[in-house]
Amino acid sequence: MHDCDVRRTQHAERRRLEPVDAPPAIVARQLSKVYDGAHHVQALRALDIDVPSGQRVAVVGKSGSGKSTLLNLLAGLDRPTSGELQVGGRPLHELTSNEMAAYRMQTIGVIFQAFQLIPQRTALQNVELPLVFAGLPKNARQQKAAEWLKRVGLSHRLDHHPYQLSGGEQQRVAIARALVNEPQVVLADEPTGNLDSATAGEIVELIKELCDASGRTFLLVTHDTDVGHRLCNRMLRMSDGQLDEVAA
Ligand SMILES: Nc1ncnc2c1ncn2[C@@H]1O[C@H](COP(=O)(O)OP(=O)(O)OP(=O)(O)O)[C@@H](O)[C@H]1O
Ligand SMILES: [Mg+2]
Repeated sequence: MHDCDVRRTQHAERRRLEPVDAPPAIVARQLSKVYDGAHHVQALRALDIDVPSGQRVAVVGKSGSGKSTLLNLLAGLDRPTSGELQVGGRPLHELTSNEMAAYRMQTIGVIFQAFQLIPQRTALQNVELPLVFAGLPKNARQQKAAEWLKRVGLSHRLDHHPYQLSGGEQQRVAIARALVNEPQVVLADEPTGNLDSATAGEIVELIKELCDASGRTFLLVTHDTDVGHRLCNRMLRMSDGQLDEVAA
């Protein structure tokens, strides 16, 4: 090998080995949200947060403290009144509604307390949905959705509609739907809130197993600090629209 080839190879090796700084998964600066309908409610007050990529964060706090408001902003379901919010380097406060729709389909997966499955569709079709938006051909979609339903323990329920599933099973479908697109960030709002304690324990174990396997950024909002401790390695407390770090 010529000297210059050796140098080029060494240079390429160095470039491969140098760590690449991934943008932080979530950054908020002076983020505020005011609901201004019949009643004026300041739900978030100049809130700051930094979540590095791959971190699992629980936001705990009393009812009405602003947890779901924050999650809805992160999910791209609502817009801040002022301040900045970035997810994976995307400034959500600046996106057009089309860009926001693409963000919801590609970048995040959301697990809700009330599952939010489409009642007219089967478990398989519900999980397939994010892949339809991603433009995957039908066969590939069905195969991938079936694989995810298998991962959440529901390969025997592919053709059931939500009303033919138990609450725990519906949440398993919703988890598969949230993860099937392999989103950068997974958000969960009280994912065990509608379940009895035994089923809630199983769902916590499932989310934990899937988070451990993927190393994905995960933000959970809950009033249940026990669920927060079991699923996350960092905890923040929301009170009156502001966040404080909770010592480990
Ligand atoms: N669409 C809305 N319009 C007006 N006020 C709202 C709206 N949504 C929420 N709020 C108010 O904003 C505050 C924060 O609500 P949020 O739903 O974020 O609380 P939370 O911490 O998720 O509570 P919980 O634990 O009960 O789910 C509350 O005072 C609530 O009444
Ligand atoms: Mg809430």
